[in-house]
Amino acid sequence: MELRVGQVAVVTGAASGIGFAMARRFAAEGLKVVLADVEEAALEKAAADLRAEGAEVHARVVDVGVREQVLELAEAAYGTYGAVHVLCNNAGVGSGAEGRMWEHEPNDWQWAFAVNVWGVFHGIQAFVPRMLAGGEPGHVVNTSSGDGGIAPLPTASVYAVTKAAVVTMTESLYAHLKAEHARVGASVLFPGPHMLRTGLWESHRNRPARYAKQKPRRTPYRTLGQWEAAMREAGREVRFTPVEEVAELVVDGVRADRFWLLPAGEHSDAQIRARSRSMLDRANPSYLEHFILD
Ligand SMILES: NC(=O)c1ccc[n+]([C@@H]2O[C@H](COP(=O)([O-])OP(=O)(O)OC[C@H]3O[C@@H](n4cnc5c(N)ncnc54)[C@H](O)[C@@H]3O)[C@@H](O)[C@H]2O)c1
Repeated sequence: MELRVGQVAVVTGAASGIGFAMARRFAAEGLKVVLADVEEAALEKAAADLRAEGAEVHARVVDVGVREQVLELAEAAYGTYGAVHVLCNNAGVGSGAEGRMWEHEPNDWQWAFAVNVWGVFHGIQAFVPRMLAGGEPGHVVNTSSGDGGIAPLPTASVYAVTKAAVVTMTESLYAHLKAEHARVGASVLFPGPHMLRTGLWESHRNRPARYAKQKPRRTPYRTLGQWEAAMREAGREVRFTPVEEVAELVVDGVRADRFWLLPAGEHSDAQIRARSRSMLDRANPSYLEHFILD
């Protein structure tokens, strides 16, 4: 779709990281931006930062895992600006699950699914009917991850399962929109190709009491800084993709109506080939085995 001054973009998880970068990038194109996030103080700061850059901003505290709050977000967006053209279902969390799958806490799964899967579904249900009824061009971008979206990182498997669901949900959405000859497109985003410096490693800061852990953690949460230091100590190279590059990929992809917002990367391309080959050969997923030794 063509991006034009005065259109409206809604971004969930907009107070930090990739969501903030996307909102900022859409604002730079002259779009009004609706920022939704569960973390109030960070949201206020994000809104103030974008306003200081000249953006027109509506900010709202929303837990995307709660259907009523996402429906209210749509009411607020349409009430404030009268239309929505771009919807980025981006809010996401790491689950904090430890150990093998049979040792995980159900609440790790409940929480990650509430935000990463139900959050995207709620966004689609709250906005897409109104975007279609508006009759104007529009686009939905759902944030997945190479972890699960391509193949699981078995050490972060709950997250991977949710992100695999986001790919399948977006493929289905794409087909449903095509079947309706809609002027609304759909894309699935794989931020990368490298690591990102965002708040994802501190996702537990936003974990609600209703999904609290029931057992104390066996190991403390590791920060991105600690992980990076450990990798460097082990002589492993660590590369980062700036969030602005991810936002650029999104804007380009929306303009080009590109479904796979999947940056080319040696590692991810190799994973796609290995997984596809394993399925076509009816061979066991040996590309996962080095993780099993961890
Ligand atoms: N950082 C990475 O390496 C990476 C890689 C691939 C995919 N992703 C995905 O990118 C998206 C953005 O994550 P990020 O890396 O920018 O992390 P981030 O923590 O910096 O940003 C995520 C934002 O979502 C918000 N959020 C959390 N729970 C919410 C809820 N219930 N309702 C509304 N907002 C909520 C957080 O407050 C935060 O502002 C996520 O979907 C994440 O899974 C991140």
